[in-house]
Order: sequence, then C-alpha cells, then structure tokens
Amino acid sequence: MITKILDVSEEPINIEYIRQASEILKNGGLVAFPTETVYGLGGDATDKEASCKIYAAKGRPSDNPLIVHIAKFEQLQQISKDLPKTAKLLADAFWPGPLTMVVNKNQVIPYETTGGLDTVAVRMPNNPVALALINESGCMIAAPSANTSGRPSPTKASHVYEDLSGKIEAILDGGPVDIGLESTIVDLTEDVVTILRPGYINMDMLSEVVGEVRMDPGIVYNDKGTTEGAKPKAPGMRYKHYAPKADLTIVDGSEDKVITTINQLSKEATAKGKRVGVIATSATAGRYNDAKVLIIGDRADEQSIAHNLYDILRQFDELDVDVIYSESFATPKMGQAIMNRLLKAAGQKTLKV
Ligand code: TXA
Ligand code: MG
Repeated sequence: MITKILDVSEEPINIEYIRQASEILKNGGLVAFPTETVYGLGGDATDKEASCKIYAAKGRPSDNPLIVHIAKFEQLQQISKDLPKTAKLLADAFWPGPLTMVVNKNQVIPYETTGGLDTVAVRMPNNPVALALINESGCMIAAPSANTSGRPSPTKASHVYEDLSGKIEAILDGGPVDIGLESTIVDLTEDVVTILRPGYINMDMLSEVVGEVRMDPGIVYNDKGTTEGAKPKAPGMRYKHYAPKADLTIVDGSEDKVITTINQLSKEATAKGKRVGVIATSATAGRYNDAKVLIIGDRADEQSIAHNLYDILRQFDELDVDVIYSESFATPKMGQAIMNRLLKAAGQKTLKV
C-alpha cells in the first residue's frame, strides 16, 4: 500500500485531510497522527481487527497493550468500570495532556486492544490535530507510538515514514511534536496511585493532586542496573526499547571528569577502528575529540533535552557509529523521564566517574 502524507502542520487545520483520515479509521484502517508527546499509530480502539493491524505494522508483541486516546472525559466513563475518584481529579488537573491512566475496563474495548488485560490505559492528548481526528471520526483511537517496535519513538512525521511507510494508510503530518517523550502512565487500580512510566507529569505534580504517589518498584533501578522489585507492571516497560543500533554507554559524574573519560574512551575506540558518537550539550560539545558529536540541547533547558533525545538516537543510527557515549541528564523536573529512556537505550549501562 502507498502511505499518504496529509500535511496539517499549518493553522487553520486542513479539515478535508482530517475527514480523509477519519474515513480510514472508520473503515478499519490505520493513520499515524501527532500528539504533544510523540506520534501515535491510530486505529479504532473498539475494532479488534484494527488493533491486530497495529501490532502487525509495528512488529509489536500482541501482549503489549495499546493506549486509548479520547477527547471527552465521558469517553473514559464509557469504557471503564469502578472508576475511582482520583480519575476525575487527575483529568481536571492534567487533561488534555501527557498523562495516561490505567483503569479497570468494561466490555466496550476488546481484549485485542488491551493485550488480554482487564484494565485499559486511557489518555486525552493535548494536540489540536489529535483531538480533531478523535472528534471527526467519532472513534476512540487505540495508538501506540508510531515507530517500529524497538526503535526510538517518532517525534517527527519523517520518523514515522522511515518506519511505517507502505504499512499504513496515512500519516497526518502536524510538524515536530512538543514534548518528545511518551506520556506519564499511572495505575489507578490499586490503593495508591502508582507511576508505571515516568514522563513530563512528574511525581510532585501528581502528589499535589492526589496525595501519596509511588513508583512501580519494577522500574526503579539500583546502581548495579537491576531492579529491587518484580518485573514492571506496564508490559512495554519490560522490553528493551528505544535501542539505537550502536552500543550506548552513559558516563555520569562531574563535568570535567565526564569529558576527560569520554575523550579517552573515544580515543581507544577510534584506535580500534570503531566509529564513535557523543551526546553532548551546547556548552560541552566543543570539548570532545575523536568523535562525531551531536548536541542534544541546553542543560538549563531540560525541555530541549527531552525534545531532541529520540531524534539524536535516530541520527546516530543513520551516521552508522559503532559506539555512543552520552552525558547523563538527571535534570530537576523531567530528569527521571529522560534518564528512564536513556538508560533503556543503553541497556542500563552507566559508567560512574
Ligand atoms: O505519549 C504516549 O503515551 C504515546 C502517544 C502516542 O500517546 N503512546 C505510547 O504508547 O507511548 P506505547 O504503546 O508506545 O506505550 C504504551 C505503554 C506500554 O508500555 C504498555 O505496556 C503500557 O503503556 N500499557 C498500556 N495499557 C496498559 C495497561 N492496561 N496496564 C499497564 N500498562 C499498560
Ligand atoms: Mg512505544
């Protein structure tokens, strides 16, 4: 099939393109669309065949559930049961926005969409194209990130095209996304609100609304790179994800030590005939030798780091480097989310200096 690219990056949004995309969804087809976090690969969430097509297009294991995207709070009520009061509080505080809530499901959403689970993950995206598509199609849209399984999530329509061209009907190109990391996922099915995947909405922001919040012990790593707790509750957090083709190591410590160590490692690798990449900030980039250096952003502007992370990982894939050394980015607000993704890309490999 030929994947149509529908350009909706200019305001006002081209409603004709939204209609075309809506028709595809209503007929059981797939459309990639922008959200404020990353691009999603959408299908009708109530159509089990559409969900199966999503897994096939991504090459994703079918036990890894999809997020259902909605445009009105009532749609959450339509598909859930035993909805706790915290859902309304969190929706009032953060929707539309980068927060996904896991709640008990009723029969409206099929098991194909939830990977066989009795719970469903739901979010209301804060992006005008996404909301227009949900409203115009009348569909609740099941959408994982629109990348091939195992590749970095797409933050631009061109990333989606690289991975899924020929496999889906259309891509709504809404320009580069805003945040660049996937939504925070919270589980509301237990007594205490639990973070299953860190994101832009951090623990402090959640606590202000609902009081006690805990982190899924399955995603808290110790210095040895292992978790104390059981396996992560979100199935997707169990897989090695966001993996660049090159071998990535994070080097953590004071700025000068990090730069000296990376330069030394780069020199050794280059001597062995390896191509080296370094992930640096605008302030440090000029101090690296023997490597292809890419600037992720400005350390004082953590949103820039989140915004560029996946694009940089994809760029290194194209540059065909063999090893990548990265500085660490444990920034104040989004640091947990940024490091969660970077550590996954590195298979938890960190060198403390
Ligand atoms: O920002 C986002 O959340 C993006 C955009 C497109 O909305 N979507 C996204 O979807 O990141 P995906 O499929 O790449 O990641 C969904 C994550 C997976 O880790 C999955 O295992 C988890 O959500 N998940 C989905 N339903 C769940 C459930 N019922 N219980 C626990 N985890 C669930
Ligand atoms: Mg994903």
